[in-house]
Amino acid sequence: MKILGIETTCDETGIALLEFIEEKELKFKIINHQLRSQFNIHSKYGGIVPILAAREHKKNLPILYEKLLKETKEKPENFNYIAFSYGPGLPPSLVAGKEFVVNLAKKLNKKIIPVNHLLAHIYSVLIPKNKLNVYQKIKKIKFPALCLLISGGHTILIYMEDFQKFRKLGETKDDAIGESLDKAGRILGLEYPGGPKLEKLAKKGKPIFNLPRPMISQNNFNFSFAGIKTAFWELVEEIKKYNKFNEETKRDLAASYQKAVFETIIIKTKKAYEKYKPNSIIVTGGVIANTALRKMMIKVFGKEKLVFPEKSLATDNGVKIAFAGYFFKDNALEPEKLEINPLLDI
Ligand code: KG4
Ligand code: ZN
Repeated sequence: MKILGIETTCDETGIALLEFIEEKELKFKIINHQLRSQFNIHSKYGGIVPILAAREHKKNLPILYEKLLKETKEKPENFNYIAFSYGPGLPPSLVAGKEFVVNLAKKLNKKIIPVNHLLAHIYSVLIPKNKLNVYQKIKKIKFPALCLLISGGHTILIYMEDFQKFRKLGETKDDAIGESLDKAGRILGLEYPGGPKLEKLAKKGKPIFNLPRPMISQNNFNFSFAGIKTAFWELVEEIKKYNKFNEETKRDLAASYQKAVFETIIIKTKKAYEKYKPNSIIVTGGVIANTALRKMMIKVFGKEKLVFPEKSLATDNGVKIAFAGYFFKDNALEPEKLEINPLLDI
């Protein structure tokens, strides 16, 4: 079974073709995948401009699709389904993606599998390697599991009995952790997206500045990252007043901010871990591309318990949409019936 996956929820245009074979055990291979980031478009604005994101998706989708066909020499009539991430996401980006997907599905006479972007982040941890054209078995997870979903738009802690039965334990009440890293980056004068740039800067810095660990003493599993961002902004303003805002200080500020937000999510996850005693801890979403966070998590929970996505698949891409699509193929619908859902939850 071949599934074409398409991702356009935010600022990454991703298209991937995956093949699944159901023998004794399910196997799959990534036939091809294409990804185009829009960092250079949005970086000067310090954040994503939705209208520009949609324009780029519209421009890039046909280019990436043609590139995929050319590189694989696959015949589109042999695709079984088209999987599309219908939300949550930016409405203009989702509309641009939907238009392309609906037209393609009609042309090829295929059904569309609507895929929840958040669930795709969770399912993506089952992909062992981002390898091209190699059949792979799916990773096994020991349940019950705790799942920490940390991305640019979400920070959610989930208790999972299995992939069908799960419930939200808590989530951010304001900014998402990725958003907070992006904003801290902006305060330091870094280009969008701040998360990876902050990581690079923090590597050479020392976490010498004091910042709060928000909501850690509260008896719940919610998060808040708006206050720490304000505290960081005030700290930077103070440093600027004394003319100390130099490269060395910037590195130390980056290291301090990263440590504060990462420690906060680890403390909260540890509380949930002690309460629910899960057999695994899944950490997924763009922020887990961060090596420092991976190391901190391993130090606290140990390698055995932790399940991360392959690093190159942590941020948004078409592979995880096609992959999750397989598990939701029973929801496939006629192209006319496809709706986007910008506020979709888990
Ligand atoms: O999952 P994702 O690609 O998109 C959403 O679903 O939101 O996550 C994007 C977020 C951004 O906030 C970005 O700054 C952050 O993930 N991110 C990182 C790193 N790479 C991406 N944050 C910290 N360290 C990184 N290396
Ligand atoms: Zn995402």
